[in-house]
Amino acid sequence: MTEQRTEAKADSTIGSARNPGANGAAIRTQQLTRHYHMGSSLIRAVDGITLEVQAGEFLALLGASGSGKSSLLNLLAGLDRPTSGAVLVLGRELGRMSSFELSRHRNQTIGIVFQSFNLLPRMTVMENVELPLRLAEVPRSSRPSRVKEALERVGLGERLTHRPGELSGGEQQRVAIARAMVNRPRILLADEPTGNLDSNTGEEILRLISGINRPSSAEEPTTVLMVTHERGLAERYAGRIVTLADGRIERIEQAEK
Ligand SMILES: Nc1ncnc2c1ncn2[C@@H]1O[C@H](COP(=O)(O)OP(=O)(O)O)[C@@H](O)[C@H]1O
Ligand SMILES: [Mg+2]
Repeated sequence: MTEQRTEAKADSTIGSARNPGANGAAIRTQQLTRHYHMGSSLIRAVDGITLEVQAGEFLALLGASGSGKSSLLNLLAGLDRPTSGAVLVLGRELGRMSSFELSRHRNQTIGIVFQSFNLLPRMTVMENVELPLRLAEVPRSSRPSRVKEALERVGLGERLTHRPGELSGGEQQRVAIARAMVNRPRILLADEPTGNLDSNTGEEILRLISGINRPSSAEEPTTVLMVTHERGLAERYAGRIVTLADGRIERIEQAEK
């Protein structure tokens, strides 16, 4: 533990690509800001966030509506670019990547899940989950087994030819998680993944995400950063809770586990 920290310090130069991910941080932000101009007013959605997420950690991002949770997650995901500051993922600074590198990074290093599932309605479950494999140019012959494996992992191995509209909300979110995980990313980012689900289904989704974070089998742990406004869920499943207010970190709590 102590050693990891020393290493992280020694390698904390922005943009250092040497041995990416060798230190303990999966994600690191430095004085990150994202400001929006709305007419004549300036909205400081993310207002100077310096945060480190350790590899294998399950971190929950809490905060009232409008506190900047989604804006921050989008910056970490490389879906949006900061106004200032830096995001390093596995030691690589996103701001130094070309759009091509950034989309490859999004496809292969991180999985993203949203509140609204974002499945393609005309495609079957199987086709939805296969999409990231096609983008990653995984050979056609090895795709069906990868898709099946990802769907079995979320307990949906029997729903391959359904379309999203034929599934319950909880099942649709499972498909979205399978799609996020099919390229075996090191990091899973989730923005209110239970926001459209009843509390029992939400709890099931959290158990699933928790199992992805710490698998019982030989699979690698996955770093999880989840946005939620449900404190109870965060307390039950996350190892650390970061609360945002007005685009800043208001509080950091370590779960007693
Ligand atoms: N694209 C945008 N353009 C202008 N303002 C935005 C945009 N996205 C978010 N905001 C504003 O930034 C603040 C933070 O929003 P958001 O990150 O969505 O918060 P949260 O996810 O915590 O509810 C809010 O005041 C919101 O209105
Ligand atoms: Mg949001």
